[in-house]
Amino acid sequence: MDIVPLGPGFAAELRGVTLAQIAADDAAYAAARAAFEQHSVLVFRGQDVTDDGQLAFSRRFGPPEITKVGSLGTGSHFVILTTIGPDGKVVPPDHRYAMRNKANQLWHTDSSFKRVPALASILSARIIPARGGETEFVSTRLAFEQLDEGLRKKLENSFAWHDYAHSRGQIAEGLASPEERAALPPQCWRMVWKNPVNGRRALYLASHAYAVEGMEPAAGKELIDRLMAAATAPGLGYVHQWKSGDVVMWDNRATMHRGRPWPAHEARLMVRTTISAAAADGLETMRPPAKQAAE
Ligand SMILES: [Fe+2]
Repeated sequence: MDIVPLGPGFAAELRGVTLAQIAADDAAYAAARAAFEQHSVLVFRGQDVTDDGQLAFSRRFGPPEITKVGSLGTGSHFVILTTIGPDGKVVPPDHRYAMRNKANQLWHTDSSFKRVPALASILSARIIPARGGETEFVSTRLAFEQLDEGLRKKLENSFAWHDYAHSRGQIAEGLASPEERAALPPQCWRMVWKNPVNGRRALYLASHAYAVEGMEPAAGKELIDRLMAAATAPGLGYVHQWKSGDVVMWDNRATMHRGRPWPAHEARLMVRTTISAAAADGLETMRPPAKQAAE
């Protein structure tokens, strides 16, 4: 297995290894896991991907999420990101599927709005447009390391609120359905996620983040916006141009990503599996301290 850095400062392609080998072989998994902890984004090219193969690979890294209510694939381990309607035709731009893709074009980390956030996401290209539709990544680890020390210290002890309805509300009012809102109440997470393997810290932010605990709403929002802008400034990203057979895996603790647009009449079908974070991934350090009893 060769590790070829893609840059800038994170992301790498793993060559000479298949998802099936990593699923089946402890040593291959250990090498891939070490690369994941170090590089945050892993690219695999030329894979022969099936749903079962993707899931077997994904399970190596931890428990797969069950897809939430309101998403295609709900109740399964797969999120189906598609612009192809049930009739086999590409949906119009105002269709719910297309609006969902617009929400994916905001910088975010997956599942920060869930009760258990995500360690990793694995995305495979099944049908891709001729051009456009790239996925762009930034390292929130590098972003954190560029902040001044006083702000780093403050953020390590700050907590932000994340809400699925907030990010969807930026695209269209009511894009998050009442059913989704009920299933996904806002969650509060530390604003810095420390990797327990290598000790490196990363900003934990997303389009879902809307408030900072203990700060006035406007000041909290201003801080989130400022940190998001710094983390996603031009030139800091790795842009993945999808080819058929590509699989990309990323660390949701240490990156943000966004989809890029593509011509609306072209079909695109991607399949995502998502791994929940566990205690060994630093999950417990992310929760706010328990509130003192009121009595
Ligand atoms: Fe995403």
